[in-house]
Amino acid sequence: MTKLLMINAHPHTTVPSASLTVAASFKTAYQQAHPTDEIITRDLYQDGVPALNDTTFEAWRKQKYGEDLTADEADLLNRHAAWLDEFLAADKLVFVNPMYNHFLPAELKQYLDLTAVARKTFKYTATGPVGLLTDKRALHIQAAGGYYHQADGHNQVEAGDPYLRDMLALYGIQDYRTIFIEGLDQFPEQRDQTIANAKATAEKLAADF
Ligand SMILES: Cc1cc2nc3c(=O)[nH]c(=O)nc-3n(C[C@H](O)[C@H](O)[C@H](O)COP(=O)(O)O)c2cc1C
Repeated sequence: MTKLLMINAHPHTTVPSASLTVAASFKTAYQQAHPTDEIITRDLYQDGVPALNDTTFEAWRKQKYGEDLTADEADLLNRHAAWLDEFLAADKLVFVNPMYNHFLPAELKQYLDLTAVARKTFKYTATGPVGLLTDKRALHIQAAGGYYHQADGHNQVEAGDPYLRDMLALYGIQDYRTIFIEGLDQFPEQRDQTIANAKATAEKLAADF
């Protein structure tokens, strides 16, 4: 069965969000177009991305030297493994986030740290790293207050989407699509129309994703 993993990197649970609204439209349209597919939602804020911290590095060191792990260390490594397995098992990935300070929210960066694992998502070779996930495809849905991806120029520079694209390319994922919902704070009077346009784009894209 085809699996779609929606990776929600948004802190809001009650406040309206453009990216979550567009992601919900995508999901509904995707369900209609692919009724037998399994859709899984991973909420990075609510679920808490397993950290790369002092406990993680100490647990890895102990594992390497065959030392016993504490219960906390074992639990943390089990969570790392479960999250990575979920990522590897998905055929299609949808990343949803607000732009924060020209980048991705920190939780999404942490998620990429969690999934960038040699011999799982990519491997090292004499001629450089090679991606192992060539059969997957990805969609990035991102909302921003300003403009970054307009066809007619005058865009500000952002690092989040190019970084996500680069990381997924490292994993071998070349089929990478985007929906940008932009100018929401710069032109608040156009907000509803901007979101409606993005929802229509998402619904169309969902049919052949
Ligand atoms: C902490 C923070 C940082 C932000 N940084 C940027 C930014 O660098 N560029 C930008 O255009 N908008 C920025 N915004 C505005 C949000 O990207 C914008 O409000 C967007 O609509 C949020 O997505 P949402 O509608 O899905 O919540 C920022 C908002 C917050 C709260």
